[in-house]
Amino acid sequence: MLDKIAVFDTTLRDGEQSAGVRFSAEDKVEIAAALAAMQVDVVEAGFPAASAGERQAVARVAREVRSTSVCALARALPHDIDAAAEALRDAAEPRIHVFVNASDMQIARQLGRGREEVKEMVAHAVARARQAAGSVEFSPMDATRADPDFLVEVVREALAAGATVINIPDTVGCALPGQVREVFRGLRERLPELDEAVLSFHGQDDLGLATANSLAAVEAGARQLEVAVNGIGERAGNTAFEEVVMALRVHGAALGVATGVDASGICPLSALVEARSGIAVPRNKAVVGANAFRHASGIHQDGVLKWRENYEILDPASIGHPRGSEIVLGKLSGRAGFVARVRALGIELSDDALDAAWQRFQALADRVAIVEDDALAGICEKAVARC
Ligand code: KIV
Repeated sequence: MLDKIAVFDTTLRDGEQSAGVRFSAEDKVEIAAALAAMQVDVVEAGFPAASAGERQAVARVAREVRSTSVCALARALPHDIDAAAEALRDAAEPRIHVFVNASDMQIARQLGRGREEVKEMVAHAVARARQAAGSVEFSPMDATRADPDFLVEVVREALAAGATVINIPDTVGCALPGQVREVFRGLRERLPELDEAVLSFHGQDDLGLATANSLAAVEAGARQLEVAVNGIGERAGNTAFEEVVMALRVHGAALGVATGVDASGICPLSALVEARSGIAVPRNKAVVGANAFRHASGIHQDGVLKWRENYEILDPASIGHPRGSEIVLGKLSGRAGFVARVRALGIELSDDALDAAWQRFQALADRVAIVEDDALAGICEKAVARC
């Protein structure tokens, strides 16, 4: 029996915190509907206290996307919680996500308060949120830089006030996987009452460790992971949705866990978020980058042609990839890849013509990065004419 990992998508909230991104209400509904269709457990639709437009957009998602839990973010302030509650009024399964600074640095230098005041804010805010929603998530912000003793105290306060989900954010993306495991183990050891709540992890990718940290959190007991499609989000972004879902496909059995996400929607969803956010997916991005299933070097081409899994751990069809595995020809390609592309174009060549075409191909490949199909067809035509 595998434990379920709930996937909490924050593309529409932390993802929208990417500099230069603004989702319209229509964008939010479209993306939320795509996430819901893929059985994502929770969609964080936005931060209603931020503006009237944001409140309306979250309310539209809550009204129109009924088959998943819709969540709204709120600081630990009455006004924010009321704004979130109002925006979620028509949600089928509302969740309010309350957060407050928890590291001493942020408590002193951003919030300008003391630890005791923070605990009081948490107790009041979580209790107020629980009056409006059956599901309340609490995040002690900057948890990975917080004093572990204070983290225990503030989480205890949130649980006592009725929090149903405790989310541990690595807000500045500074933690190593071992440290994440330590934070989770420490909390679980010292707070037996945590067993009644869902433990969650929210990773930022400042050091490129967000996915590794998310998996470490799972190893130490997290049963919800917060992610954003294409890894978009504040600064260097959030844990990438597609990386977590596929890493858990590959390693879930070993970890004793599985998500309920339908991975076949990953590529269309990635393309949708790329289009609506305006943030281009890097070619070499894990899982959804344009090069993720493209093979350029001779040894890899030969291997993948003989047995796809020699050089691919994911099946492109399983994530709704529009093209599948590709052999891309260039100067590092070998004869096996070259012949395969020629055949794929439906061109039949005699042995002599094939040799001549190969010579021409190699000469061209030394001058251009990719020998495209048109150029390859032209090379073959000339080789046939010469033989
Ligand atoms: O990065 C962060 O700490 C957050 C919290 C609100 C979860 O986005």
